[in-house]
Amino acid sequence: MADFQIAPSILSADFARLGEEVDNVLASGTDIVHFDVMDNHYVPNLTIGPLVCDALRSHGVTADIDVHMMVKPVDRIIPDFAKAGATYITFHPEASEHIDRSLGLIRELGCKSGLVFNPATPLSHLDYVMDKVDMILLMSVNPGFGGQSFIPATMDKLRAARKMIDESGFDIRLEIDGGVKASNIREIAEAGADTFVAGSGIFGNGQASDANGYDTIVKEFRDELAKVGS
Ligand code: DX5
Ligand code: ZN
Repeated sequence: MADFQIAPSILSADFARLGEEVDNVLASGTDIVHFDVMDNHYVPNLTIGPLVCDALRSHGVTADIDVHMMVKPVDRIIPDFAKAGATYITFHPEASEHIDRSLGLIRELGCKSGLVFNPATPLSHLDYVMDKVDMILLMSVNPGFGGQSFIPATMDKLRAARKMIDESGFDIRLEIDGGVKASNIREIAEAGADTFVAGSGIFGNGQASDANGYDTIVKEFRDELAKVGS
């Protein structure tokens, strides 16, 4: 079976108890921490930055941290996230004047690099940089907010991105972000995604966020993923 990874988006976590929330959601069987950085400029919302990433590392989080930068410009802040312990650093091609350089900078600093595609952004930005990305992230909502509905046209885009990755022969993860729930994760996986961001689908599902609070919902996600291809 494919190596599926579940990436809880801490945008929907309780920020007043962030370290504990991250510990609990990882203990429930999720894989990587999706970390949404918004700047009130590239997107109309403002969230968290390198200080918070660093704080999670100091708290003891050893899982991969997947920094999704919704910021413009991107190059100035990349080194700060590398220093703060980011594993992946992804950015939107519209937000960088020099995409190839930004991707190179991320890898030079020892992190894994990625490009993020808004619903209307074409995959052609990848044409000359497939050898420079470790992650392709398709937005299935317009970026800026949690809790929006999955845009169905993303399914075809996932299939197209999966084809590009397979044909390239490179080891590139295909991540999906926005409106992922237990009810659609199987179909999303069958369209080619292997990494699943879920914010409101995990943190906002009404379960208590105590030490065992996310077990049930994460198991539902896993059970759906286990059906892929069957
Ligand atoms: C939106 C963010 C997402 C967000 C997803 O701009 O990039 O990561 O947290 O939230 P849900 O899973 O609630 O759609
Ligand atoms: Zn995100």
